[in-house]
Amino acid sequence: MADVSIATGVDAPAFDPFAIAGREDRYAVMAAYRSRDGHAYGLPPYPELDRALYVFTNELIHNALKHPALLQAPPGDYDEVRETLTQHAVWETLSKSVLLNDPPRHEALRRPMTEFFSRRNINRLEAWLEGFADDLMAECLRAGRFDITQDLAVPFAVGALSRVLGLPIDDPWHLKRLTAPLTNALDMRRDPLGDEVDEACGRIIEMIEDGIRRRRPSDTPCLIDIMEDLVARGAWTRDTLIANCVIFYFAGQETVVDSLGSHVLALNRFPAQKALLSSRPELLRQAVEELLRFEPPVQYSGFRIAAHATRLNGIEIEAGEAVVPVVAAGNRDPAAFDAPEDLDITRTALPHIAFGTGIHICLGIHLAKLELKIALKTLFHNHPNWQLTDDRPVRRPGVLFNGYTSVPAQAV
Ligand code: HEM
Repeated sequence: MADVSIATGVDAPAFDPFAIAGREDRYAVMAAYRSRDGHAYGLPPYPELDRALYVFTNELIHNALKHPALLQAPPGDYDEVRETLTQHAVWETLSKSVLLNDPPRHEALRRPMTEFFSRRNINRLEAWLEGFADDLMAECLRAGRFDITQDLAVPFAVGALSRVLGLPIDDPWHLKRLTAPLTNALDMRRDPLGDEVDEACGRIIEMIEDGIRRRRPSDTPCLIDIMEDLVARGAWTRDTLIANCVIFYFAGQETVVDSLGSHVLALNRFPAQKALLSSRPELLRQAVEELLRFEPPVQYSGFRIAAHATRLNGIEIEAGEAVVPVVAAGNRDPAAFDAPEDLDITRTALPHIAFGTGIHICLGIHLAKLELKIALKTLFHNHPNWQLTDDRPVRRPGVLFNGYTSVPAQAV
């Protein structure tokens, strides 16, 4: 690993995302880097890489994610790293997904799915999702004590994903047990990937294959129909279909589950905002945006690699260098938001980057927002007779991912 201290610039110490992961003061640390220079060199997000340039301002992040030379896996200096990574079955699979491809391949993977994920199409699920969330919440309240993450968020997000994909997922918690190790492949890490990640990926692929065999014709179009049609027409291989299903099994639920836990806890820390949300249902949509700004489940977007020597707002970047957008810092940039450390669900026109930006902006953005809006509606309007217990919420492990595995609550 390179000695990052020699590459940190004049007065900024190397940024260490591992040291602040999950810490309450992480936003303050990020703010210090943001206000110092807006960027800093720091520890590599993977041990396979050398140093990385972290960018903290809203503007730099927007520009980095839209920069034509900052790519997911450019040929050239990055080839050696990619070969090391793809020796792992999990990377071999993920590297075929929409997330980890660059133009023009990215377009061929993403474009056939964009209409399906449009707001208009996704909004057709609203009534079904609301009924589903209400049923789950009624069951939680009947039980008396329940967990907002385990008993509401997990079955809700996985059930929604199963319906959207058109593949049965009988046991949402089993999927969570498999996506937990898979997280290591997409999260930042100090150590090389372990074999358990490949094993978890293999078992998720078995679940997908099993789901494809068992699926029943649906009265509404599902994503798997679109994917199978692409394979039948020769536009995608079957491996491409499976790789993209793996990404959906992961990204399509992990982020929503993480959001709900930390958003409920954020509202609890700002009781006036919680009261406002409870009394004004018309603020639900804005509240989702503001909560995603305030507590983004993805704190850093995936790193990008410079395809050749280039500049980002005048910062020189070497060929093959990694650039890491610190989404959580950009979302609290005072140049983009008034009083960014305050949770304020009445904010309008929010340039937050919780879903990224540029060509890789989250494909599930409308689905995610709809799920979160409905979950908040269920919790704060349809079934408000509950409260958090005194038991401590449990944070999920992770550097890039931000959320909770347990948020205990009880009926009142
Ligand atoms: C609150 C929930 C969510 C958040 C905050 C979120 C965040 C993100 C972010 C930041 C990216 C871009 C990563 C990068 O540029 O490196 C992304 C990409 C993606 N997300 Fe989400 N996501 C959420 C929910 C979902 C859901 C529900 C789905 C699908 C059902 C989904 C599917 C995807 C896919 C397929 C990509 C890759 C898109 C591409 O590369 O073109 N996400 N998401």
